[in-house]
Amino acid sequence: MADKIGVSVVGCGFFAQNHLNAWRDLAKDGVELIAVCDIDAAKAKAAAEKFKVPRWYTDLDVLLAKEKPGLIDIVTRVETHREQVLKTVAKGIPTIVQKPFGFDLGDCRAMTLAAKKAGVFLAVHENFRFQAPLRRITELLRQGVIGTPSWGRVSFRTDYDIYTGQPYLLNETRFVINDLGVHVCDLARAFLGEVEHVTCETQRRNPKAKGEDTATMMMKHVNGAVSMVECTYGAHRLPDIFPQTLIELEGPKGAIILYKNFDLEIMVGGKITKEHADAEVLHWAARPWHIIQESVLATNAHILNALRSGKPADVSAEDNFKTFACCEAAYKSAESGKAVALEPLQAKAKSAGKAKAKAKPKARAKVKSPKRPAKKAGKKSSKKAARSKK
Ligand SMILES: NC(=O)c1ccc[n+]([C@@H]2O[C@H](COP(=O)([O-])OP(=O)(O)OC[C@H]3O[C@@H](n4cnc5c(N)ncnc54)[C@H](O)[C@@H]3O)[C@@H](O)[C@H]2O)c1
Repeated sequence: MADKIGVSVVGCGFFAQNHLNAWRDLAKDGVELIAVCDIDAAKAKAAAEKFKVPRWYTDLDVLLAKEKPGLIDIVTRVETHREQVLKTVAKGIPTIVQKPFGFDLGDCRAMTLAAKKAGVFLAVHENFRFQAPLRRITELLRQGVIGTPSWGRVSFRTDYDIYTGQPYLLNETRFVINDLGVHVCDLARAFLGEVEHVTCETQRRNPKAKGEDTATMMMKHVNGAVSMVECTYGAHRLPDIFPQTLIELEGPKGAIILYKNFDLEIMVGGKITKEHADAEVLHWAARPWHIIQESVLATNAHILNALRSGKPADVSAEDNFKTFACCEAAYKSAESGKAVALEPLQAKAKSAGKAKAKAKPKARAKVKSPKRPAKKAGKKSSKKAARSKK
């Protein structure tokens, strides 16, 4: 049995249930849930009771004063991330923060810089690259099965009713790129390498949403590769394959295609090898959310391992800063109608981050929605039963 590590989870809402289940599964690896925290006492108490956590709090400052966690897992919404991370890092506590890392690149830089200066481990819970079929693709690429890919497509298109479980998404001024774009951009980076510039068009198909719910991005990677990176909550397709991500990669020796329902085809030397790359349905999971739920366990396990080995996680703050830079560039491109290079954006955020590293989070500026005619939203089905499982 590995050494014990006390974990505290901050935020006990919708998605935190997956984190709590995953940490409980990692008890076999020495994880001990020592305390949970939510400003909503009922949620903190319910989580403590369900997951047999000895203490619960409604204030992170009180938790930090009374507990000595070996790892803090922040699963609150984005507007609290910067303030909370700066507090946990200042206390020298290794920290995980849910995606999106920050509201904008300045936030991400401030947190990254604060952790770096303090020499504190900071990772972002970017879980998509830890999904079973996407782990398999990473493995195939590392083995050089198709050579270095020069073209790719990463696609997440759904009309699933995410608003029932996450009603706040309708009010996000930065919506689908901050919510889903962070995942698909991260996959594009993971599979095709660092990004030089991004071109993006956004659309708002659901008139009830404040921000964009559809983004179509094209990326030029530093090594010359090109990728199409898309995400929407406004696709009207049947069957709706939520929450699956589809992948296409072409390299000098062949191609890898991840079709719907986790059917993976590896095309090399004129032959097709077919695999079924579905994830295990964990004892607390249910289809179709199992693919996300298993990835939460894999992400937590990876981050824990990295912390124990004294290495940055694959999804470290530094790494996720680069993913978020793609998202920031996408917003800027959608506003300007031009390709936006990442390097100047990152450099600008670096100097802004230095100045703001210790400052309180600023009031959010409204992001101008692109001037597109709003399309009529399609009929949404109520999937309340599904909601608690995601
Ligand atoms: N990776 C994924 O696949 C995935 C999926 C869904 C949501 N998420 C992310 O998870 C995060 C949480 O989303 P959610 O849908 O669970 O939101 P939620 O609103 O259901 O839960 C957030 C919880 O945080 C609590 N909270 C707010 N401020 C707090 C504070 N200062 N201290 C302690 N608790 C506080 C709220 O009371 C609430 O219970 C978001 O960043 C979201 O983007 C990730």
